[in-house]
Amino acid sequence: MKIYNLGSLNIDYVYSVEHFVGAGETLASQNMQIFAGGKGLNQSVALSRAGSVVVHGAILGRDGEFLKQTLSDNGVDTERVELVESSSGHAIIQVDKNGQNSILLYGGTNKVIDREYIERFLCDAKENDILVLQNEISNLSVAFEIAKERKMQIAFNPSPFDETIHNLPLKFVKWWFCNETEGEALFGSANPDEIAERFIREYPDSNLILTLGEKGCIFKNADTFIRQSIYETNVIDTTAAGDTFTGYFISAISQGKNIDCALKLASKAASVTVSRRGASPSIPYINELTTDN
Ligand code: RIB
Repeated sequence: MKIYNLGSLNIDYVYSVEHFVGAGETLASQNMQIFAGGKGLNQSVALSRAGSVVVHGAILGRDGEFLKQTLSDNGVDTERVELVESSSGHAIIQVDKNGQNSILLYGGTNKVIDREYIERFLCDAKENDILVLQNEISNLSVAFEIAKERKMQIAFNPSPFDETIHNLPLKFVKWWFCNETEGEALFGSANPDEIAERFIREYPDSNLILTLGEKGCIFKNADTFIRQSIYETNVIDTTAAGDTFTGYFISAISQGKNIDCALKLASKAASVTVSRRGASPSIPYINELTTDN
């Protein structure tokens, strides 16, 4: 089973702030750092650090060549990442004193992914291979369609959420990764148990992983309901926690681990990520995670 990630790459400009800048306010930041990020990049780094082989698909501008380098330094297959003469995607991230973030995105070359590129990227994909997707790239519906034709398993993180998500053939998604905000936007309830119930009524053949921040997460499919709590830690920066969770969970499932074990591993990895600064640099290697529960 091969893992493909058609995933955004962003240059992350991370500003430490006392509080998030408000409307009409000019605020001086205390510090600025540049990191390799993008939900797609973070997920591939997490998959690889969790011990999986992953083929990454993306289009980059020359300003973002270090993002490709970061992926290959992390053991990700970047043979299919293409370069164009345009600006890469970037993110302006404010991190406040409690480690919470607020992210402004510029799509850049993440938004020039087209049908031809997706066909090239998935040219050798086979039944049961996994395609990881998020909502920072263009032509997601084409990716869904081609993955379905090839009988792949789609793992989808509908983030950042926008109305276009409702137009996707969501019944093809096998593994859903949502946070509470996305769960509410998709299923019309702020109550996690109700989100899980509505989800399974609508998608009885799929699996939902609903992350709930400091309240842990919920797993729901037709046979199983599991609650997993967080591993307590000192929160420095929550950026990439969700991406780490997604990468570690998919890696565990693809290696034949059971859901319970995948949830524990993913939660543990995410707790390490939030205890460090930045996106991809904060993602732990599997050997940093203790095996006791
Ligand atoms: O999930 C965190 C990521 O969201 C950041 O790395 C940023 O680039 C945005 O894509």
